[in-house]
Amino acid sequence: MLSNYIDLEKGILENYTENVIRRASDMLNFYQDNEALEKMIKNGNPTIYEVYAVTHEGGGELSYAITILHPGKVGNEYFMTKGHYHEKRDRGELYIGLKGNGLLLMQKGEEIRWIEMERGKIVYVPPYFAHRSINTGNGNFVFLAIYPGDAGHDYGSIAEKGFAKIVIEENGNYAVKDNPRWK
Ligand code: PA5
Ligand code: NI
Repeated sequence: MLSNYIDLEKGILENYTENVIRRASDMLNFYQDNEALEKMIKNGNPTIYEVYAVTHEGGGELSYAITILHPGKVGNEYFMTKGHYHEKRDRGELYIGLKGNGLLLMQKGEEIRWIEMERGKIVYVPPYFAHRSINTGNGNFVFLAIYPGDAGHDYGSIAEKGFAKIVIEENGNYAVKDNPRWK
């Protein structure tokens, strides 16, 4: 596909070729407060985020995806994506904020960075960095990601250990704290 449209108000990508909806029940063990998550699952199992992608697999190709990350918290931890490394670790990615407010958390070994995201902001995720998005706002946080077609997603080690930092709400603002489960 050589051209396409995004509805910038709703964050809807037309003509997507793949999509994933992650509900609370898909995020078991990703949050500190498992009890709060279990409760949420029983009370309607809300959607945490949705991804709509146009993929072109293979080296030299580019794929792109819109993520709609819903607002909310599990305990005091903001809704977030699972986060991943690229299967091919040396593949980078570009993130472009379209709506709402969030953070992009990036980690390579012990090196961890976080960058605020908003509409119009472009963030480069260099090769070798795991990345996760967090919705720190009150509405949907929507962004576009552009990545090499052969990058692949590796969720394994993040699902096990998480990132070195977690993002929580504290006195009405976000705060980045050490992850007690790290290591
Ligand atoms: O390519 C990306 O990095 C994004 O499109 C993510 O895949 C998307 O935000 C969903 O996050 P995750 O794949 O970690 O569940
Ligand atoms: Ni990625």
